Amino acid sequence: MPKSPTRDPASQCPSSFPGLLYQNEPLQTEPDDYDDDDLFSDYESASDNLSIASSIRDYIYENGRRYHCYGGEGKYVLPNDEVEQKRLDLMHHIQLMVLGGELHMAPAENPKRVLDCGTGTGVWALDFGDSHPESKVTGVDLSPIQPDWASPNVQFEVDDLEKEWTWPQNHFDFIHIRSICNGIRDYQRLINQSFHHTAPGGWTELSELSFSLVSRDDTISPDTALALYLDCIERGYSTLGIANPNAASMKECMRKAGYVDIEERTFLIPCGPWPKNRKLKDLGATFALVGPAGFEAYGLAAMTRALGMATAEAKELCRRAHADLLNARIHACIPAYYVYGRKPEW
Ligand SMILES: C[S@@+](CC[C@H](N)C(=O)[O-])C[C@H]1O[C@@H](n2cnc3c(N)ncnc32)[C@H](O)[C@@H]1O
Repeated sequence: MPKSPTRDPASQCPSSFPGLLYQNEPLQTEPDDYDDDDLFSDYESASDNLSIASSIRDYIYENGRRYHCYGGEGKYVLPNDEVEQKRLDLMHHIQLMVLGGELHMAPAENPKRVLDCGTGTGVWALDFGDSHPESKVTGVDLSPIQPDWASPNVQFEVDDLEKEWTWPQNHFDFIHIRSICNGIRDYQRLINQSFHHTAPGGWTELSELSFSLVSRDDTISPDTALALYLDCIERGYSTLGIANPNAASMKECMRKAGYVDIEERTFLIPCGPWPKNRKLKDLGATFALVGPAGFEAYGLAAMTRALGMATAEAKELCRRAHADLLNARIHACIPAYYVYGRKPEW
């Protein structure tokens, strides 16, 4: 992981926040002028924002897990609770291992304006902001699960990326979209919007994990719990209308949107410490740590909401599928797709 500098919250406070009263400063007592008696008329729009702000925390509790509500109940089918947040941070670490410590593959050099779509815990945005102090990074997500204290060059917004984007067009020098397809019903439209908002000459990078696992030596036999789990996932997501893009389809989306110089790579991440190669073994061992939380995160809502399975049955299948991953005779890998492209200059 890139080194995070020690954060001193005090040093991040704006030194002279306009209008903020500090202790011991004289209180300004001059009253404001009001046209009418409605003392709170100035706050009508603020109170609207307040209700939006509180509604984004109207979470849904299901199967013993917490899910987002903003953007439409059930839009994104993975949880957003603490267990999930820890899993996302560990997945970030795994993806850094995959990219040899780099935060991205696209040759975006010193981008000034950066957008991280579906930022999750904000871990990528924060790392990027730390290592690029000259960049201004915006992380956006359906769930307000980012830390309150961020570096001064990183900010977070809550929004649904499937709505019309409100940022200026031709604006971001780098747009990063990682692992968000579970909350996207129209992936092509997402990429079209990202194209419109990428600055000419700027880069966009997409990466997604496969919903399925593969074994090059056919060790995921059809009678394993793992195979049954993967079948449920496939049927569940297709019932929910959620597609899993791969490198070829993401590349095609980028081409259709207008991007050029598109490159793609697919990595196979071992799902346990079974490989001989030391680096891959470490990667697989780290991935196995994500396992129990990962099986539930991806599987529970898909199996209960879409396939009508009982919670206990779905949890038991997740547990048995994870146990298969720890079986040294099963050599499973998860494909990780990375695609990036450049918006042509004017
Ligand atoms: C699997 S997490 C990945 C988080 C982060 N990109 C990472 O790689 O660490 C997916 C995130 O995308 C967000 N997401 C999914 N669909 C979204 C949408 N339509 N609009 C905004 N955020 C979305 C989810 O709320 C979730 O936090």
